[in-house]
Amino acid sequence: MKNKIYYGDNLDVLRRYIKDETVDLCYIDPPFNSKRNYNQIYNNIGKEDAAQSQAFTDTWTWDDNANQGLAEIKTNYNGVFTEQSIDLICGLEKVLKKGALFAYLVSMTLRIAEIHRVLKPTGSFYFHCDPTASHYLKLVLDAIFCTTGGDFLNEIVWCYNVGGKGSKHWARKHDVIFFYSKSHNYYFDGKSVGIARDTGTKSFGGKMGVDEDGRRYQDKLVKKTNKYYRYYVDEPKIPEDWWVDINSIQSGSKERLGYPTQKPEALLERIIKASSNKDGIILDAYCGCGTTVAVAQKLNRQWIGIDITYQSISLILKRLEEQSKDALDNVEISGVPKDFESAVALANKSDDKTRKEFEKWMVLRYSDNQAIINEKKGGDGGVDGVAYIPDHIVGKVIEFKKVIFSVKSNAKLTPAVTRELFGAVERENAAIGILLTLYPMPNLVKDSKQYGLYHNEYVRGGKDYPKIQVICVDDILNGAIMDFPIPAEVVKKATQKATEQKELF
Ligand SMILES: C[S@@+](CC[C@H](N)C(=O)[O-])C[C@H]1O[C@@H](n2cnc3c(N)ncnc32)[C@H](O)[C@@H]1O
Repeated sequence: MKNKIYYGDNLDVLRRYIKDETVDLCYIDPPFNSKRNYNQIYNNIGKEDAAQSQAFTDTWTWDDNANQGLAEIKTNYNGVFTEQSIDLICGLEKVLKKGALFAYLVSMTLRIAEIHRVLKPTGSFYFHCDPTASHYLKLVLDAIFCTTGGDFLNEIVWCYNVGGKGSKHWARKHDVIFFYSKSHNYYFDGKSVGIARDTGTKSFGGKMGVDEDGRRYQDKLVKKTNKYYRYYVDEPKIPEDWWVDINSIQSGSKERLGYPTQKPEALLERIIKASSNKDGIILDAYCGCGTTVAVAQKLNRQWIGIDITYQSISLILKRLEEQSKDALDNVEISGVPKDFESAVALANKSDDKTRKEFEKWMVLRYSDNQAIINEKKGGDGGVDGVAYIPDHIVGKVIEFKKVIFSVKSNAKLTPAVTRELFGAVERENAAIGILLTLYPMPNLVKDSKQYGLYHNEYVRGGKDYPKIQVICVDDILNGAIMDFPIPAEVVKKATQKATEQKELF
């Protein structure tokens, strides 16, 4: 099987593409109903806090989607809902009424039922959440897993030390990871992730001692036999259900990609190693910047990742490529436009969650994932993204200039559009403006010539580029890619300094 990345809503992907009983392990880390929107931080160029764009939202409202989902649960769509889960949702409707929390729980119930369907009978499920909704989610999980022969195995408490402080409550420093199996016959190899016996504990209690070889031990009474069993402190043990030895991603972490709520690889390594065999199939239906799939790849598992935003898809591709040169050879990417019709379909998506996806796809694809997305709804002067290119070198310092991207999906465009883009380029003191269009625009290609050339001194011997460029979807689908010195690679090697350090948008 090829590994798979799906770009789209996981409910749709699960229903359409993932067959019954095909997955060994599913881990999900969905939005937690935190009532926040999460920004992706681009920290490779310029001032960090200026370079952000919204990656995903975690605010919920009762809307048409929620109504449709509720109807699907009540009518047992696809036959995936247990009687208990339907009764539970009907009961919660009375208690919670049609508000944000209930919309969130309906959305999760729809997806948990599909995940249950795709798990093999020996499969396991880890649901990562936090106390905001964990108690409600456990009810849903129990109603789907425990009523059909599965088991609730653990509530893992993952402790960390960032965030969560407040003067009117105890600092909130843990997430909750529920661990379920689809049947009593599931795979678990806790020893493969054994940790030092004293991890997280200061004292063992019991009878401690040091043997003749100098090894520390604890003698524990085994009640059944009334004999003592000797545990050596340096022998590994299966971790408890409270994890204090895996740090969250810190601002200086090597792993950090700037994607909000990125989870540490060590967390996924523990889960994947313990709950799947080599060659097992791992699913992450909310894969963000791809921590699960990157770890699954390293551990020689097969994997399926799903995410609804193109920022996430583009980061995963980059992450895998950086991890190993041939990682992408065995990956099938689905949902990303491959022809004009699917690009039109993406451009026509208008729901709130996928509103900007066409623009993101065009900008990230043409800039080879180097650009930063502008998420603002209007008021952005037509700027949908910005990339930085090295412009020239002063001493050992590289000076950068902006490239501005503007995306238009209209069937007809007049030269007013190229004029507006040129205005933005001038205003921002940018090097180049690139107009990305859905339909071919020969009139604008011709018109753009009047804006002259930008001279780049960074390229050896200097090089001229058209100041305004017009690229259409067909060009991109035929492989056209931004032809400039790629900044990220340069930045890694050299002292960096963005010519413009003020706010990007
Ligand atoms: C909390 S993040 C996951 C972070 C991830 N564990 C990591 O380490 O990078 C949640 C992700 O779920 C995605 N998402 C939200 N709703 C989705 C949906 N309906 N279908 C697919 N992905 C979705 C968001 O785009 C976001 O990337």
